[in-house]
Amino acid sequence: MIILGIETSCDETAVAVVEDGRIVLSNQIASTKDLFANAGGVVPEHAARKQLECILPVLHAALKTAAIKPQKIDAIAVTKGPGLLGSLLVGTITSRTLARLWGKPLLGVHHTFGHLSSTFLGDDTIPHFPIISLSASGGHSDIWYRTAHTKGTLIGATRDDAAGEAFDKGAAMLNLPYPGGPSIAKEALQGNDAAFSFPLPLQGEQGYDFSFSGLKTALKYTLRDTEPRPRLHADLAASFERAICEQLLDRTLRALADYPETKEVHLVGGVSANSRLRHMFLNLPRQTRMRVPVKLAYCTDNAAMIAGSAYWLHKELGEAAYTSFFTASTLSLESCVSKVTIKRPKTQAGVPQGLGR
Ligand code: KG4
Ligand code: ZN
Repeated sequence: MIILGIETSCDETAVAVVEDGRIVLSNQIASTKDLFANAGGVVPEHAARKQLECILPVLHAALKTAAIKPQKIDAIAVTKGPGLLGSLLVGTITSRTLARLWGKPLLGVHHTFGHLSSTFLGDDTIPHFPIISLSASGGHSDIWYRTAHTKGTLIGATRDDAAGEAFDKGAAMLNLPYPGGPSIAKEALQGNDAAFSFPLPLQGEQGYDFSFSGLKTALKYTLRDTEPRPRLHADLAASFERAICEQLLDRTLRALADYPETKEVHLVGGVSANSRLRHMFLNLPRQTRMRVPVKLAYCTDNAAMIAGSAYWLHKELGEAAYTSFFTASTLSLESCVSKVTIKRPKTQAGVPQGLGR
């Protein structure tokens, strides 16, 4: 089944063609990040105007690279939310127009559901559920316990900032360009990650929630109270990056300890492009299969994940995958998947089983 995917939820304009949820025939993207490098973040109106200019050229490039004519496409998938409304509308209106023009069925996909399916792109191994998925991006940091593509329960989430947001805000404090994740990672290469000890938030609490706003405050005061010296910013970047990664892995390990029947643990979302995090995640001494998206292009926002995830929706939900949808700037993934009832883990009554410190 060949699906054309469109993703425009933030500042990217992305179109991809994917076969059977795994084989990426094309994955085109026009990014406007350079426009916002010095603005500290995305300016929604500017992003949407740029996306209007980019969407048709990117669509043509995706069809051309895949060497495919519209007749061969079985369905069109688009991100329906959450995201910036003006940006989302560029994608959803384009997809509705193409579906009508070409006579194709249309699927609206939740952005995070796209991320959750990104580990299957370019990988032909059979997934084994239950899967614990850590999804960390600029808008959310979630831990899902999943028994099928469309069946899962959100077991942990951030109580304040998302992990990517912490990178973005931390980078702004260190005068590094947006997006902050890659900027901090680059600066951190010159630094010592043990130079500063940032807190591991919510330690000692039960469950798998995250909190990143305290780390941001800790960075602010450390910066204010430390005498300027060579490589200070690099040391801060490395220590801050380490603290974010440790918290993400700490909660994932706790979840894995509580759900030992888990067959695979996945790391997805824009933050999964972070080399330190990928390295730490893939080197955890566990028997369970640890998976990250096979290409960095599948970590950050892209349309292949939207086309890929639509295939799993089609496979598991059939007709119901094609119900009409609204474009929504806020949208919970819990309203788009079937909740799984899971047993209360034994260790929640005792000591949390994370990385600790
Ligand atoms: O998934 P994504 O592309 O967009 C959203 O859905 O938000 O994630 C973007 C986030 C940004 O906050 C960005 O700073 C972060 O992912 N990010 C990274 C890296 N590349 C992108 N964070 C850490 N290290 C990276 N290499
Ligand atoms: Zn995303």
